[in-house]
Amino acid sequence: MNASTDIDYARYDHIRPILWTGDSLQLLDQRKLPFVVEHVECRGSDAVAEAIHALTVRGAPAIGIAAAWGVVLAAAGVQAADGAQALAKLEPALQRLNAARPTAVNLAWALARMRRALALAGADWQQVLVTEAQAIADEDLAANRHMGALGAGLIEAGSGVLTHCNTGSLATAGFGTALGVIRAGMAQQRIAKVFAGETRPWLQGARLTVWELQQDGIDATLIADSAAAHLMKTGAVQWVIVGADRICANGDTANKIGTYQLAIAARHHGVKFMVVAPSSTVDMDTADGGQIEIEQRDPGELYGVGGTRTVAEGIAAWNPVFDVTPGSLIDAIVTERGVILNPTAVNMRAAFG
Ligand code: MRU
Repeated sequence: MNASTDIDYARYDHIRPILWTGDSLQLLDQRKLPFVVEHVECRGSDAVAEAIHALTVRGAPAIGIAAAWGVVLAAAGVQAADGAQALAKLEPALQRLNAARPTAVNLAWALARMRRALALAGADWQQVLVTEAQAIADEDLAANRHMGALGAGLIEAGSGVLTHCNTGSLATAGFGTALGVIRAGMAQQRIAKVFAGETRPWLQGARLTVWELQQDGIDATLIADSAAAHLMKTGAVQWVIVGADRICANGDTANKIGTYQLAIAARHHGVKFMVVAPSSTVDMDTADGGQIEIEQRDPGELYGVGGTRTVAEGIAAWNPVFDVTPGSLIDAIVTERGVILNPTAVNMRAAFG
């Protein structure tokens, strides 16, 4: 039990998606959940880049952490007198990791942190990389637990909440961002009911979120994405709580496709909208959401469900997998550094410089 937050972390947080064994990275294969619980072993950085691209590991903080361990794997067998020399040799591998997915800033952030640590390292540069990767993972878990308490503090007892995509232990080092707030809100008995959207087309909500919550004994009710506005109209939810892949300098937030329409519906129905993400997701170098590269994935993801084709041959499909919610539709951004209410360029700068 944690005295400051009254949250029994051992009870509410069982799953770990990324395991470092000392010489390989074990990734819980999120393409196969919930019916097959299987790990993929990565022994090199290109295998990690491929796992990030293929969504074996996914979620903004988790792909940053996996990439950091990818750098450690790239370093195995490299001979260099110091970190600066090693960095020159490792740069192509770092660039391949960075190119694995474009939208979540945590990937570039984690690689920049590994680069900085390496540039300053001496002869023990290999150990420095291991220490830095572990620190990135440990700090993410600590940030999530802190954000859980901060975000839950905004929620009135008896509230219903709706979440989108998967922002839980599966998407992070543990506990989760938006799901961390939901775990904390459940533990503190503030949240009475949790709804999760399916999150077409990859079904992170249906395949991952409700399963993850079930592992921790938290009941969640699944809805079709298209049921969200109707749900809000019934008065059953007081907060929409989502994660983020990139938060811009003015509070505009990129997150899983469908988040923007939830924010519009929430504002229309007087439902509050909360974004929860570690400061590693804040990108003060991107002024607004118009400058974010939105990942486009294979249109084939829209042509079927569970491997069964549901769409006639010869149909075109458009598959952007993120959208941008304007800061003006967000009531609160929660990071481990604190809560920003009604984000603007001014209060974002005050918090993040
Ligand atoms: O395509 P994904 O599954 O990697 O997208 C993940 C999301 O959009 C999450 O909502 C976001 O990364 C926050 S994860 C803590």
